[in-house]
Amino acid sequence: MLHRIPVRDLRLGMYISSVDCSWLDNPFWRSRFLLKTQADLERLRRSGIAMVTIDDDRGIGLAPPPAPALPNPFPAQAESPALVVERRANRPRRRRIDELERARETVERSKEAVQRMFNDARLGHAVQMTEVAPLVEEIAASIERDRSAIINVTRLKDKNEYTYLHSVAVCALMMNLARQLGLPEGEVQQAGVAGLLHDIGKMATPIEVLEKPGKLDAEERRIIEDHPSAGHRLLKDSPDVSAIALDVCLHHHERIDGRGYPEGLTEAELSVHARMGAICDVYDAITSHRPYKDPWTPAEALSKMLSWEGHFDRRLLTAFVASIGIFPTGGLVRLHSNRLGIVLTSEGERWTTPTVRVFHDVVAGAAVAVEDVATHNAEGGDPIIRGEQGETWFGDAWPRMLDDLMAGRAPHAPLARGVEQAA
Ligand SMILES: [Fe+2]
Ligand SMILES: [Fe+2]
Repeated sequence: MLHRIPVRDLRLGMYISSVDCSWLDNPFWRSRFLLKTQADLERLRRSGIAMVTIDDDRGIGLAPPPAPALPNPFPAQAESPALVVERRANRPRRRRIDELERARETVERSKEAVQRMFNDARLGHAVQMTEVAPLVEEIAASIERDRSAIINVTRLKDKNEYTYLHSVAVCALMMNLARQLGLPEGEVQQAGVAGLLHDIGKMATPIEVLEKPGKLDAEERRIIEDHPSAGHRLLKDSPDVSAIALDVCLHHHERIDGRGYPEGLTEAELSVHARMGAICDVYDAITSHRPYKDPWTPAEALSKMLSWEGHFDRRLLTAFVASIGIFPTGGLVRLHSNRLGIVLTSEGERWTTPTVRVFHDVVAGAAVAVEDVATHNAEGGDPIIRGEQGETWFGDAWPRMLDDLMAGRAPHAPLARGVEQAA
């Protein structure tokens, strides 16, 4: 059963089902987890987050009522209430600025290391996993502290650094998605390695072709489309490169309808890692600032990707949307009030605070009257606490429910699968 409790009442062994804050302020990159370490507990207490929801079916339950407190023989010096309020108000913002700075440093170091690796590869040297692994760990640590920082920092790429920064970004996106999917830790790391190395075959592509802004002719296209195979050949000859990295390198330009390259494989023939790679690769490419094109905003990019037929694995793409924490029109989200709703508009400045059409109460496990609500805190709204996946809650009924909701009708739907399964 779910209980919403103050952070101060959290104890080790409780299972956190959601954290009451926007994705921008969430100190964790996991949205649900068993609270196992004192460090995580401390981090939550320091985060400025007031409330969390716990699931006592998956962890320990609420604490018994506290024993009467003994008087403290060493009372701390009182702090001025105004100071306490000011410190609390500044805390999440300061933490975020610090993490952006740290993310910038991580990205700079990673970019230089990837550049060295590409140069070595160009000279015919094998990739050294001893150099790759610490980089991936550093990027993973940055995501763990603040998943949006590194992803935002890598969006701005100039011409000379595009491929290197793109590698760092795809590494971060792959690990973030792997976490969202609940893959085991080892696989999360391997997904990161795969992201970092997926375009290493571009070391063999002439720079004029790589950076040509206009349309490519047939020969240039052939040269570009050789980079997955060239990368795969290089990685195959490097020691200790995992099957996941080899697979993603060779297959990140495949499409589920079989119209990708180099092998034209179809959905059933592509591994989950290759399908993840295709999503992370395209997302970073279309949201990046490039000299010759304006980038799409994250919300625009996700909306477009969701509308393309035949490119991506639909379920993985939905998980990806949830992993980014951005809310495209039609996306399912959970609000602070523990209601589920779909995003109605998410444009421009409003992509983190769109209007949401609510229809289901998570705690009651029941439908509620369809209603459009604001999510902007300052406007007295009900803030979004995270993205959800419609299929996880409502199975195959979800696409039809979504149609009903978008049309303003109460969804013609079975009950949700229940709090226990979905939470
Ligand atoms: Fe590529
Ligand atoms: Fe790529």
